[in-house]
Amino acid sequence: MEMLTAFLILVIILGFKLIQTLKPKTSSSSSNLPSYPLIGSILSFNKNRHRLLQWYTDLLRQSPSQTITVDLLLRRRTIITANPENVEHILKTNFYNFPKGKPFTDLLGDLLGGGIFNSDGELWSSQRKLASHEFTMRSLREFTFEILREEVENRLIPVLSSAGDGGRTVDFQEVLKRFAFDVVCKVSLGWDPDCLDLTRPVPDLFKAFDVAAMISARRATEPVQAVWKLKRMLNVGTERRLREAIKTVHVSVSEIIRAKKKILEIGGDVSDKKDLLSRFLAAGDDEEAVRDSVISFIMAGRDTTSAAMTWLFWLLSENNDVEKKILEEVSNKESLGLGLGFEDLREMSYIKACLCEAMRLYPPVAWDSKHAANDDVLPDGTRVKRGDKVTYFPYGMGRMERVWGQDWDEFKPNRWFEEEPNYGTKPVLKSVSSFKFPVFQAGPRVCIGKEMAFLQMKYVVGSVLSRFEIIPVCDNRPVFVPLLTAHMAGGLKVKIKRR
Ligand code: HEM
Repeated sequence: MEMLTAFLILVIILGFKLIQTLKPKTSSSSSNLPSYPLIGSILSFNKNRHRLLQWYTDLLRQSPSQTITVDLLLRRRTIITANPENVEHILKTNFYNFPKGKPFTDLLGDLLGGGIFNSDGELWSSQRKLASHEFTMRSLREFTFEILREEVENRLIPVLSSAGDGGRTVDFQEVLKRFAFDVVCKVSLGWDPDCLDLTRPVPDLFKAFDVAAMISARRATEPVQAVWKLKRMLNVGTERRLREAIKTVHVSVSEIIRAKKKILEIGGDVSDKKDLLSRFLAAGDDEEAVRDSVISFIMAGRDTTSAAMTWLFWLLSENNDVEKKILEEVSNKESLGLGLGFEDLREMSYIKACLCEAMRLYPPVAWDSKHAANDDVLPDGTRVKRGDKVTYFPYGMGRMERVWGQDWDEFKPNRWFEEEPNYGTKPVLKSVSSFKFPVFQAGPRVCIGKEMAFLQMKYVVGSVLSRFEIIPVCDNRPVFVPLLTAHMAGGLKVKIKRR
């Protein structure tokens, strides 16, 4: 009897202790995220998994340090930050402690291999050196500009004219995606996929890139990572589709590389040697390394510019005063009727401000993660453990009052200028820290195609708006979907009217 009583007392004490430990505690860096022993924040996470962008943004706003820590059952701890000082620490000051890491490179490894976008350490550094050198060359800039002119004047404008004259509704996001794919393939491979003819199906390579990017990105959202690894091993479901898409990408790009090598072997002319592929081959890397490199460039450059421009065109349809100012800027440049020139584009600061403002609210890369190589402490005091996933969050940062002020939710290109631009004076763009606006990342791994991207986007926005009105036909507010690159759910359906 005594033994039984003692046992019951022990059970009651242990039960009490357990209940005490199961009381939710809030993590030190976040103010409102309940976390339980063993299961961490999995309950709140599951409740919000369909709206993670908004959930993280709300939590970051409430956090005194603009950083939150999310513990999930069976998953590595994730630290998410919208604090510019932390971002600077991760991307620059302690860069070597925050590589992409194996958990990230595993997700994209089947598609991108050891390409620049998906590698760390020496493998990344050697590719970065070579690519950075090429991107500073005037010859690559001129080559890109030639491609843009050809693609805009001979394809984009005629396609929009014919859609406008025929009164057809077009998906403008799809048009811009096809345009960007043509441009990035011509720059990277010296190969023309010719996607902009809307009456023809897109080439297999275009579809294969889409499928491969989407399924690779979805791997990251599996609650348990072992699930996609098992599906890959068994070659079933989405992993089977992924394998087929990757095969198409690898085989097509390898064929293009072999054809290019043949041309170069027999000498080729100057125009055959301007693309990135010829430049990488000239550096003497083997075929597989060159293949992985150029695939990384196509991946990085294909949907990012189209995403940014899609959101800008939609924002302009809601902000006619801003559109008018763009038209003023373009008409000043196009006064000789010769179209936009390279120098004109460099000077178009108002369109640049509009693009930055659109990307502040709708960044093409909504979040990006690194994995800590060693324990560390972030400038706001958040403790990082070796192996933690550390995410900087451009989408949330663009929506923080503490970063952008009370009017953060307004589309105001003027915030990018030193002073409100006045008629007749040349507006001067403010220098804004890339750690406060890490839309192109920042530090040693900052997007290598940033200048090329602005050139392309300015050219398209200026050339299209000076000729057409772009009128969205859907009244609902578009939905922002973050995957590897963010996009507008369902596209941007528009009517086109000649000016
Ligand atoms: C609006 C357009 C663009 C945006 C917002 C953008 C943004 C970014 C971001 C956030 C990263 C870092 C991603 C990561 O490390 O996980 C990145 C890397 C990169 N981007 Fe861009 N990008 C754009 C256009 C382009 C274009 C047009 C190209 C080239 C044709 C390009 C080439 C690259 C490359 C090669 C990297 C990898 C750099 C490295 O890891 O060293 N990007 N970009």
